[in-house]
Amino acid sequence: MLEKMSDFFNRRLDGYEEHQLHAIEQAETFYPLTAQYLPAGPHARVLDLGCGTGLELGYYFARNPTAEVTGIDLAGEMLQALERKFPDKNLTLVQGSYFTLPFGENRYDAAVSVESLHHFTQAEKIPLYQKVFRALVPGGFLILTDYFADSDEQEAFFRRELRRLKEEQGIRDEEFYHFDTPLTVPHETEALQKAGFAKVEDLGQWAATHLLRATK
Ligand SMILES: C[S@@+](CC[C@H](N)C(=O)[O-])C[C@H]1O[C@@H](n2cnc3c(N)ncnc32)[C@H](O)[C@@H]1O
Repeated sequence: MLEKMSDFFNRRLDGYEEHQLHAIEQAETFYPLTAQYLPAGPHARVLDLGCGTGLELGYYFARNPTAEVTGIDLAGEMLQALERKFPDKNLTLVQGSYFTLPFGENRYDAAVSVESLHHFTQAEKIPLYQKVFRALVPGGFLILTDYFADSDEQEAFFRRELRRLKEEQGIRDEEFYHFDTPLTVPHETEALQKAGFAKVEDLGQWAATHLLRATK
């Protein structure tokens, strides 16, 4: 049964972090490494897209306790858990969709997104990445650690499956439902380049997870 995105994550809050760290191959390696790539300078301004309970932010705050982080997420209960975890940190949390919320211009040194953007199409991501591009300062970058399809066939298969399940369940609205539809790394790279990013690097792979850095 497909579940709406925010319901899916709110319902799984209990045990979420343990699941995430143990069910995804080598998550215990790529979460800390994601944080390593974020800016180390005092009061670095970072935007986290789909921050959830802030697994990546735990590693980041350990390395940069003065970072000023804005976290966006659809799931209110995930955000409440995140707020409870870091009461003494400079953390601004916004509940809503990163597709519709404004990010502002030239105000972040970096953006990060971990295991959130593999639910969306290239067409949906290009305007989102344009918004991220505008929100970054010159030389700013997006660190994207996510689940990727290993072939065009696999990417197309997941898309077909989502369409089939929606049809089977009579879902006709345009809301987000939780179902993994990862792009391939070349298709993700193309979306980032179309949004204006000058350089896109694949900095590491752990099974189906890659860590990309897109620099403005
Ligand atoms: C698998 S969790 C990852 C959370 C965290 N980044 C981590 O790695 O532990 C995916 C998160 O993305 C959020 N999400 C999915 N689509 C979103 C959207 N359109 N706008 C904001 N958040 C979204 C979900 O609510 C969920 O908390």
